[in-house]
Amino acid sequence: MTNEQIQKVIDELNALKANTLKQVEEARVRFLGKKGEITALFEEFRSIAPEYKKQFGRPLNELKQAALAKIEELREVAGNEIASGAPADDLSLPGTSYELGSRHPVSIVRQQIVDIFRKFGYDVAEGPEIEDDWHVFEALNFPPNHPARDMQDTFFVSAGHDNPILLRTHTSSVQVRAMENMQLPIRVICPGRVFRNEAISARAHCIFHQVEGLYIDENVTFADLKQAILLFAREMFGADAKIRMRPSFFPFTEPSSEVDVSCNICHGKGCNICKGTGWLEILGCGMVDPNVLEANGIDSKKYSGFAFGMGIERIAMLKWQVNDLRHYFENDLRFLHEFDSALEV
Ligand code: DAH
Repeated sequence: MTNEQIQKVIDELNALKANTLKQVEEARVRFLGKKGEITALFEEFRSIAPEYKKQFGRPLNELKQAALAKIEELREVAGNEIASGAPADDLSLPGTSYELGSRHPVSIVRQQIVDIFRKFGYDVAEGPEIEDDWHVFEALNFPPNHPARDMQDTFFVSAGHDNPILLRTHTSSVQVRAMENMQLPIRVICPGRVFRNEAISARAHCIFHQVEGLYIDENVTFADLKQAILLFAREMFGADAKIRMRPSFFPFTEPSSEVDVSCNICHGKGCNICKGTGWLEILGCGMVDPNVLEANGIDSKKYSGFAFGMGIERIAMLKWQVNDLRHYFENDLRFLHEFDSALEV
């Protein structure tokens, strides 16, 4: 053993560079591994004559401590670089995966409603969100100043003239456009976004979605309406779903009705979702008022029809037992990802 041997290793150690954790490990093996340079010097040290041990023992131990410290220092730097996103040489490390987006629950349910009515032979139509008073109210038999307008708090874009411009408060406006543009018989559903000047709460929002349905032909009866709604409820809520109709009022339908579906949670026994009644309200409907047919140039002596309208968020809340409407608008990914598998249903 010579001083030069030890100095040579010291020089190598001083010149040592390692950028990645893999290189640091290689350096450790090279100096301190089983067959490492420093380990070899210690082997040699064991067999030298005792009078030399004093001379080499101390520098050898210092060399080993210096090597351990250097390796530790390099390891820390390389580790930090990986953590800070600096390029790593180790191509076998897993890559950063992209988070996949998914359909929003409101658009999943909208599509399910559309698909069900498509199967029944309905066309799909959309209309403008910024509408005029005629399409939202007047043509639907809401006379000016009629109290029924109070049911739908309206955002006006421009008022003060005969036909104010406003944000549509319901998709029933699209049935008016369908009557204007489509040839009879008409069988159409109209999904879309609607706006009402409402305080935001667990049950109400100022922006939400509806699907409107309209069927006009000769000899359309209330029995046809009932059957269409029943088939829809069975498709949406399960084959054992039942419906009940309660008399109601809408200016554009006569007679009018609200429809409840049997509670899909307690199956009619009564629970806190259906508030103990066994029934959940899902939509409004009725026979198209002859005034509406006439206002849109359709002969009410020859033709009759039914219409219905439902809130998409409401159907989605009932289907998945979501108790606060606001979840659908906050776009918290933890909530949205709960519906990732819903498309397969
Ligand atoms: N437009 C109504 C609303 O927004 C819903 C509605 C009720 C639509 C009865 C209809 C209907 O077509 O017949 O509250």
